[in-house]
Amino acid sequence: MGRLESEMPRQRPEEKDVAGHPRAADKGSSDVIISIRDLHKSFGGHEVLKGVNLDVEVGSTVVILGVSGSGKSVLMKHVIGLLRPDSGDVFVDGRSLSRTDEHGLQEVRRGFGMVFQTAALFDSMSVYGNVSFPLREHFRKMPESEIRERVSEKLAILGLSGHEDKFPGELSGGMRKRVGLARAVIMEPKIVLYDEPTTGLDPITTDDVDNMIMQAREALQVTSVVISHDIRSAFKVATKLAVLYDGRIVAEGQPEEIANHPHPHVRKFVGTHFHGS
Ligand SMILES: Nc1ncnc2c1ncn2[C@@H]1O[C@H](COP(=O)(O)OP(=O)(O)OP(=O)(O)O)[C@@H](O)[C@H]1O
Ligand SMILES: [Mg+2]
Repeated sequence: MGRLESEMPRQRPEEKDVAGHPRAADKGSSDVIISIRDLHKSFGGHEVLKGVNLDVEVGSTVVILGVSGSGKSVLMKHVIGLLRPDSGDVFVDGRSLSRTDEHGLQEVRRGFGMVFQTAALFDSMSVYGNVSFPLREHFRKMPESEIRERVSEKLAILGLSGHEDKFPGELSGGMRKRVGLARAVIMEPKIVLYDEPTTGLDPITTDDVDNMIMQAREALQVTSVVISHDIRSAFKVATKLAVLYDGRIVAEGQPEEIANHPHPHVRKFVGTHFHGS
């Protein structure tokens, strides 16, 4: 899945603009898995997204930073087709979501794993029960031996071997997050979306979650999109950062570029973390 994608030929040089960025028209090119194009969305008279453009490359971890109310969740909901744009489009694997019907969108959503702010585990089910749940739902005839094998593999990658029989109530916050991720990746999605994964966690658990996001990228080859307002975590896990402000992506680039970005809002938002207050 994700692995195959990353082995596909890289984009040809003539498909890039002078700055080396893929051109807007390249929504179907092999190394961009999500392409957000000129996305507009209003609620009533309130314009939340005013022309958002963003590409997510295969195998990358893109962190979308923005203050509360800037429209991060609204943007994320367009990426999984839960909201329809007023204009503009989102392309997933080259497929236009605005031209995809509800049935097709369900298919697209199956390619995504979602990790929510609260791990949203089933409290009455063991770790094994939680992680195997999507397999049982989708492959009703899968033999138990195969289920066990697949679950063990994911648990091992995420450092959860030996905890199969525990219940969520017996786990720490960081472990619950890892179980949530194991469940999100058990169907081997190409893309995992994290909505505010570290908000409200202590620094040690935050580190744990950051490591887990990096592990998912390295060991499982997934592409990740992380919504965050935790600047420290964002700079640790991101291969690319994008800052959403006033309905647009006002800064986009590698962590060093964002740390030194001239845009006043970006300086204010990330500056204190790097340059002191
Ligand atoms: N379904 C909706 N109907 C009307 N307004 C909405 C709807 N969803 C979001 N909004 C508005 O869009 C704006 C952006 O909301 P959004 O939830 O995307 O912010 P956010 O960046 O995710 O904030 P937070 O960091 O607090 O989660 C807010 O003003 C919100 O009230
Ligand atoms: Mg939100």
